Amino acid sequence: MDTQALEQTARAMIADGKGLLAIDESTPTCGKRFADYGIDNTEDNRRDYRALLLSTPGLGENVSGAILYDETLRMTTAEGVAFARMMQDHGIIPGIKVDTGAKDLAGHPGEKVTEGLDGLRERLAEYHDMGARFAKWRAVITIGDGLPSRGCYAANAHALARYAALCQEAGIVPIVEPEVLLDGDHDIDRCYAVTEETLTRLFAELRDQNVHLPGLILKASMVLPGKNAAQQADMREVAAATLRCLYATVPASVPGVAFLSGGQSNEDATAHLDAMNRLDGGRAPWKLTFSYARALQQPALDIWRGEAGNVDKAQAALAHRARCNRAAAQGRYDPAQEKQVA
Ligand code: 13P
Repeated sequence: MDTQALEQTARAMIADGKGLLAIDESTPTCGKRFADYGIDNTEDNRRDYRALLLSTPGLGENVSGAILYDETLRMTTAEGVAFARMMQDHGIIPGIKVDTGAKDLAGHPGEKVTEGLDGLRERLAEYHDMGARFAKWRAVITIGDGLPSRGCYAANAHALARYAALCQEAGIVPIVEPEVLLDGDHDIDRCYAVTEETLTRLFAELRDQNVHLPGLILKASMVLPGKNAAQQADMREVAAATLRCLYATVPASVPGVAFLSGGQSNEDATAHLDAMNRLDGGRAPWKLTFSYARALQQPALDIWRGEAGNVDKAQAALAHRARCNRAAAQGRYDPAQEKQVA
C-alpha cells in the first residue's frame, strides 16, 4: 500500500477550504431529479448535465474533486474528451461511487445494508486506470421505533471497512459515508446517540481491517432533529452537537470530514458548516468541509432545465454555491453573499 500517495490525495481533497461535488446519482436517481423539471432521462441529457457542472469556469478554485457514477467516468463529452481528462484539466480530482446500492437487510425489516463488495478489487483496478483517485461507499442508517438494530450497525460498518481496505490496496482514497437519515420525528439527542454509535462502530471496524486512517475521508451526516420533529434546532445547537459527536468518535489521524447535505436546504447546509467552523475555530484535528450533491447542484438544475441556452446561468449558480460553501469551510460565510450570484 502506497500510504504516502493516499495521504497526499486525501489532503488535496480537503485543502484550503475546498470540498467535493457529489454527482454520483445512479441512473434511476438521476431520472427522479430530472423528472421534477420534465427533463428526459436519456444518456445524452445525463452527459450534457454532468459536463455542464464539471466544466463550470473556476469550479476548481472551490471544489477539489467530484464523485462520479460509473456511467459518467466511462463517458466522453460531446466534444469527445474523456470526463476524467476534462476534470483533470479543470484541477478537479476524479472520484467514483463504487457501492451498488442499499438493499433490504435480511432479518431486519425497515433496514438496509449496502452491497458491492463482490468483484470490487477488479473494479477498483479499472477505475484507477481510468483516473479515479478516490471512491465513495454510502451506508444508510434509519432511525425509527427500535431502530437501528445492532445487526444494522454491524453489517454496514463491516462492509464500509472492507471497502475501505480494498480501496487503499488499489491506491484509491476511500470516502466512508455512514448516513444517518433525516427521516422521522426523533429529536436531536436521538440523532446524536445514533450517530455516535454508528461512528464508534465504524472506526472499530476500520481498525480491525487495518485501514490507514490518514488516507481516508469521513463523509458524515450532521446531527439534526428528524425532519418531522416537533422541535427543530437552531444553527448553533446543530453545530455544537455535531462537533461534540465528532470529537467523541473520530480519531485525530483522520484528515477530513466532508459532510453530506441530506435534504437540508442549500442555505442551511452552508450555514451549518459555517457555524461548525466558527464554533471550533480551527482547533479540530480534522478539516470540516462539504461533499454535497443536492445542496450544490439544485440551483443549477433548476436553471438548466435541459436547455442549452441556460448553461451559462446554471454554471454561475453552481459556482456561487461552491464559493459560499468554501467560505463556510473556512468559517467565513456571510449570508449576504447569497445576493452575489455572478
Ligand atoms: P446530498 O448532499 O444530496 O445528501 O448527497 C450527498 C451524497 O453523496 C449522498 O451519498
